[in-house]
Amino acid sequence: MADGARLTTVEQVYDERSFLFTATNSFDMDEEIIVVPCEDDPAAADAAATDGDRGVTAWINRCTHEAQRFDTGRGVPMRDGEIICPKHGSMFDACSGDCENGEAAGTTLPDVDLAVEDGEVFLVDDEYTFEHEGQIDDGDDGPSSTSHVGF
Ligand code: FES
Repeated sequence: MADGARLTTVEQVYDERSFLFTATNSFDMDEEIIVVPCEDDPAAADAAATDGDRGVTAWINRCTHEAQRFDTGRGVPMRDGEIICPKHGSMFDACSGDCENGEAAGTTLPDVDLAVEDGEVFLVDDEYTFEHEGQIDDGDDGPSSTSHVGF
């Protein structure tokens, strides 16, 4: 049994395309974290926790360009294995977190450590303590969810 909070299953991440949860970081601040499928060669991706040939990765739910959530409450916008920033459209590799285009080019998303055991996904990052599924619910609207990109 992995030593961490159980989050979801690999199957659910692949079925729903993403999973959002809130965790407390080492500064006692809430962070939203997204779990997404890493489909191209997950075994070769450092950040991926794998269940057979299906990998999942976890990233802070915030663009490196501006404080824009990827998942604004309707799932993470993704296309061809990349996370799409809803504000200016930069795309981040879901396996590596790297961005090579648009406003966020040259940056990498901060990663969060997961473990997978028997298809179950666990949070095993010492920096984060699981709080609850879904967005931060402190009444603060948080970063703008204004979208300039249509899907
Ligand atoms: S806020 Fe994400 S690319 Fe600008």
